[in-house]
Amino acid sequence: MTAARPYPTQSALAPNDLEAWWMPFTANRAFKKSPRMVAGAKDMYYTTSDGRQILDGTAGLWCCNAGHGRDEIVSAIQKQAAELDFSPAFQFGHAKGFQLASRIADLAPGDLDHVFFCNSGSESIDTALKIALAYWNIQGQGQKTRLIGRERGYHGVGFGGISVGGIVANRKFFGTLLAGVDHLPHTYNRAEQAFTKGEPEWGAHLADDLERIVALHDASTIAAVVVEPMAGSTGVLPPPKGYLKRLREICTKYGILLIFDEVITGFGRLGTPFAAERYGVIPDMITFAKGVNSGTVPMGGVIARKGIYDAFMKGPEHVIELFHGYTYSAHPLACAAALATLDVYRDEKLFERTKEIEPRWMDAVMTLKDLPNVLDIRTIGLVAAIDLASIPDAFGKRAFNAMDKAFQEHGMMIRSTGDTLAVTPPLIISDAQIDELVDKLRKTILSVA
Ligand SMILES: Cc1ncc(COP(=O)(O)O)c(C=O)c1O
Repeated sequence: MTAARPYPTQSALAPNDLEAWWMPFTANRAFKKSPRMVAGAKDMYYTTSDGRQILDGTAGLWCCNAGHGRDEIVSAIQKQAAELDFSPAFQFGHAKGFQLASRIADLAPGDLDHVFFCNSGSESIDTALKIALAYWNIQGQGQKTRLIGRERGYHGVGFGGISVGGIVANRKFFGTLLAGVDHLPHTYNRAEQAFTKGEPEWGAHLADDLERIVALHDASTIAAVVVEPMAGSTGVLPPPKGYLKRLREICTKYGILLIFDEVITGFGRLGTPFAAERYGVIPDMITFAKGVNSGTVPMGGVIARKGIYDAFMKGPEHVIELFHGYTYSAHPLACAAALATLDVYRDEKLFERTKEIEPRWMDAVMTLKDLPNVLDIRTIGLVAAIDLASIPDAFGKRAFNAMDKAFQEHGMMIRSTGDTLAVTPPLIISDAQIDELVDKLRKTILSVA
């Protein structure tokens, strides 16, 4: 206990002590010296606690795809809280859980038609990995336990996710992680791919490394391969043309489940409900979170192919088929928010619109190409990443400064990861707001030159 801490007041806008909140994935000391505080949000803009308007260049954290404070979603949550605040999902159900599962299954490709709910992207990955292991186990192939991820992959922060993930800082502090995990090589090569719009031509052959991993471990020991169709958190790496199809072919050839982590690509980010559709590749499971209810209430989930679900539906009917679930799986507030969000996506054709404005978005962002310190720009869907040259001996500082200045001086929220800036606005962004965003990016990059 700190003795001198002032008694907290009820003001939402002005906290009187920043010390107690140990903030996630945040440089806590720098933040607490110079806080970036938001107090409200509507459509494309945040409002700071001192009343400034901040253009949302990140859709929150890749999640507020419908924009902020949407009346339809707000009132659905309010109504649901009054009608049914909570109901257990273990052995009991409620209508909106079933309605939402059906709506999501309708959006998913192929025969991915069963939905398991959880509360975050990290949980969705752990859930998918556990389903994969259990799937082989119940079919008498319990030796198929190996999991294959990819270098630079991000699958959240649970032990499953960081084990199959490939971002070094997210792994190296946390011990030995899950045993029996291997990694494909990442797909980025600046010399071959710099300033590509969309999927790079170079790199499909990197999927063939799965053949090497299979030769090393034997397919009889491998349960699943998990990749983000477009790697996001590592700094946006669109898949090379043909890469995902190749992965699918190899997985099918050897009887290995293919999981797409669509926590950020799901719900329209690349102009289709799921990236699987954009790339014409049907995985065995898709994980989702974030955009499912536009970030309003925590929710995630896994969509599984019919054959996977059916494999579990055996044995005495009173026995639980999968020993897995969360207290807040299919929370009524999250379901109500998601149903209202899916209506907004459908009624405003936001996925189709994303596809339509993609070329304009790409052209606009590529105008930043010749600014000082810009080493590469990658764009796809409504996503862009800008690699900046590192300040000598201070990796990550230039992009951190850019993120800070963007907020404090230029009225825009962007993300920095290493020395890459990531920009992923809500799908409701207008043409004028694309221009505003690119103009602010230009000023920001110049201000850290
Ligand atoms: C691809 C991917 N998977 C999983 C996650 C983890 O999601 P959460 O932070 O909701 O646990 C993220 C978060 O950004 C993500 O981008």
